[in-house]
Amino acid sequence: MPFYVKVGNVPPKRHTTFFKEDGESLYREELFSTKGFSGIYSNKYHIFTPTQVKNIGEISQDHSSEWPDAPLQYYHFFTEKKKTRGDILSSRNEFLKNDNCVISTANVTEDADYFFRNSYAHELIFVHHGEGEFLSEYGRLPFEPWDYILVPKGTTYQLKFKNYDNNKLFIVESSSPFEIPRHFRNEYGQLTEDAPYYERDFHIPQFMEPIDKQGEFELILKLKDKYFKYLLPNHPFDVVGWDGFLYPYTFNLREYAPKVGKIHLPPPVHLMFTTQSFVVCNFVPRLFDFHPDSIPSPYYHSNVDSDEVLYYVHGDFMSRKGVEEGSITLHPMGIPHGPQPGKTEASIGVKETDEYAIMIDTFQPLQVTNNVKDTMVENYSQSWLEE
Ligand SMILES: [Fe+2]
Repeated sequence: MPFYVKVGNVPPKRHTTFFKEDGESLYREELFSTKGFSGIYSNKYHIFTPTQVKNIGEISQDHSSEWPDAPLQYYHFFTEKKKTRGDILSSRNEFLKNDNCVISTANVTEDADYFFRNSYAHELIFVHHGEGEFLSEYGRLPFEPWDYILVPKGTTYQLKFKNYDNNKLFIVESSSPFEIPRHFRNEYGQLTEDAPYYERDFHIPQFMEPIDKQGEFELILKLKDKYFKYLLPNHPFDVVGWDGFLYPYTFNLREYAPKVGKIHLPPPVHLMFTTQSFVVCNFVPRLFDFHPDSIPSPYYHSNVDSDEVLYYVHGDFMSRKGVEEGSITLHPMGIPHGPQPGKTEASIGVKETDEYAIMIDTFQPLQVTNNVKDTMVENYSQSWLEE
């Protein structure tokens, strides 16, 4: 995050003594840092030393299987057709993945007692349906529909929903951090006047009373496709205070302020986050181009260095036929894509759109899983044929 935050109690100076109320025993400082010691970081102050573990074991989880013979073609599939009952982990279904990016959905139907830590990847959790609280060592972070929850790699957390009737998450894992694009920040890191969001749109964890409790606490760690279960002797949410630039936060899709142009502007104007291996863009309600002869729908394009994934959230998507809420389209690199027959003409003269969609453009090809095979529209690749 581009701004400094301090929550709870921290000593006046880092790396100095910080005594508990008894005046003898120390709170345990943990530096949580990135890029060695050169990137953004936070300092957390624990009641217990954070390194203690009683027992370590490996567990199995089944979220997808490869579809090795998946053809190079256009894909449209319905994530709503693949619902697995379960908690935040067991309900996850992976659809698309490469070494740097994993795209899943989860219809969470059960609460979980254990704590979870993605040790390999940063997570972008888009709450399509559901509300509740994201609990972590950093505190309490309420979430509501259409919130992005940004979870830095290595964060220990629980996701608590208000109820378990109708929850749907769209989850993107990344091997490198989700960053605010450089050109949206000034030389001091503050968001610029022409950025599509402002610091006030980002919500940070609220102070949560540290839990001074010992016993047995289960922590599940994810390391790419492997899962480990740690048995901890201390409650992981034992932090009395922290400060720094590295922490989970939320941003609601509705807060994104889109830009419009005289003629069609390309997807980079819809940019939300960058990573080293892909970008995240938001398509939100906006006025269309104002040139009297403008064509609002996109032109046909070959983006030879990106696989383009769109997750459809809400509304009427202007260039695509047959999409529903929860649909995903994958338009791979190396083949052109664009509006389906009739959609270009239908867009002429239209003044605005009410669409909400999230785009992930990856710089390496995505592998298609059997979950795609099970939920895809047959002959989507032929849907551009003109009769
Ligand atoms: Fe595109």
